[in-house]
Amino acid sequence: MLGNLKPQPADKILQLMGQFRADPREDKIDLGVGVYKSADGVTPVMRAVKAAEKQLWETETTKSYTGLAGDPAFNAAMATLVLGEALSDRLSSVATPGGTGACRQAFELIRLANPEAALWVSDPTWPNHLSILNYLKIPTKPYRYFDGETRAVDFDGMMADLAAVKAGDVVLLHGCCHNPTGANLTLPEWRAVADLCEKTGAMPMIDIAYQGFGDGLDDDAAGVRLIAERLPEVLIAASCSKNFGIYRERTGALIALSEPAKREVTQGTLAFLNRQNYSFPPDHGARLVTMILEDPALRGDWQAELEEMRLGMLGLREQLAKELRTLSGSDRFGFIAEHRGMFSRLGASPEQVERLKSEHGIYMVGDSRLNIAGLNAKSVPVLASAILDVGI
Ligand code: LMR
Repeated sequence: MLGNLKPQPADKILQLMGQFRADPREDKIDLGVGVYKSADGVTPVMRAVKAAEKQLWETETTKSYTGLAGDPAFNAAMATLVLGEALSDRLSSVATPGGTGACRQAFELIRLANPEAALWVSDPTWPNHLSILNYLKIPTKPYRYFDGETRAVDFDGMMADLAAVKAGDVVLLHGCCHNPTGANLTLPEWRAVADLCEKTGAMPMIDIAYQGFGDGLDDDAAGVRLIAERLPEVLIAASCSKNFGIYRERTGALIALSEPAKREVTQGTLAFLNRQNYSFPPDHGARLVTMILEDPALRGDWQAELEEMRLGMLGLREQLAKELRTLSGSDRFGFIAEHRGMFSRLGASPEQVERLKSEHGIYMVGDSRLNIAGLNAKSVPVLASAILDVGI
């Protein structure tokens, strides 16, 4: 039977990780996979995470199962982190293996609730959104999002395309720090999207994987909160991988907002879907997150370190934009300082991206998405001159 299997397409982002590791050049620069790195190229275990792990090791008395939805304290802490308040009469929530697990469970929930639903995705979006949706055979429709000229959001194009959504369709949005472009909606634009969903009866689904990496924890969640307040039904896939730096612990949450009368059945369905896919969700990372969010000292230290990371990335953006302004004598790279989060899409051709890799040892995703956190003060000028050398 296994002889029938055909090779599956490799994930481009993960493939790049392997290529980078295999490259013997000592001065190579990794701007590929979306993992935060300090100036020394290290992905640190955050201080509060280390402290919580120590406390947990000392105090944990059992590793028996939690509930199918995960630890209720984690679900409540995550709802408050993302939504700013618990919205308890409308809120259902489950712990999931990372933000990807939350997306997968959300897509399955949508398929169960409305097999006819089309999923509207930004063009471009995180490639794994499309990969999972295609795998689940959920129809997708692209909406314009990124203006290749200005490297900002093409909001008129986006709204023109979304005018065709139907009641029962789902509009997938990135809560902040859009992956792969780095270009984000303003608050008035979020408001217009809320109006559109209200008018058409489409349900918003928001993937928020980088809360705290853009403009700060609350500002990054402002769009999600606006949508949550305005729309009767919303799905939110939240990740703790990046903002807690616990990538391999696989920690995330799927939050569903429904009419209060539908809360119980929604919560039950989320738990049912967990049982079908992996039964109990992983707990270690979720427990650390709960401890950090509930303890004022741990929380204060976590927020301080997250803020250092965020400001570091902003500083690198500004340095790179300035360096490119000086070298090119133009403002055409100003968008790098305007974008937020880990990523910016440079707008380079696949050939130029390939030359950056082969001639300069600089690795970025083929669509010219670069991970700002892969840079440091020394590599910024190297990247800037390589960008101009390959004619971007
Ligand atoms: C990325 O976009 O690089 C990250 O979200 C990692 C991943 O799983 O693709």
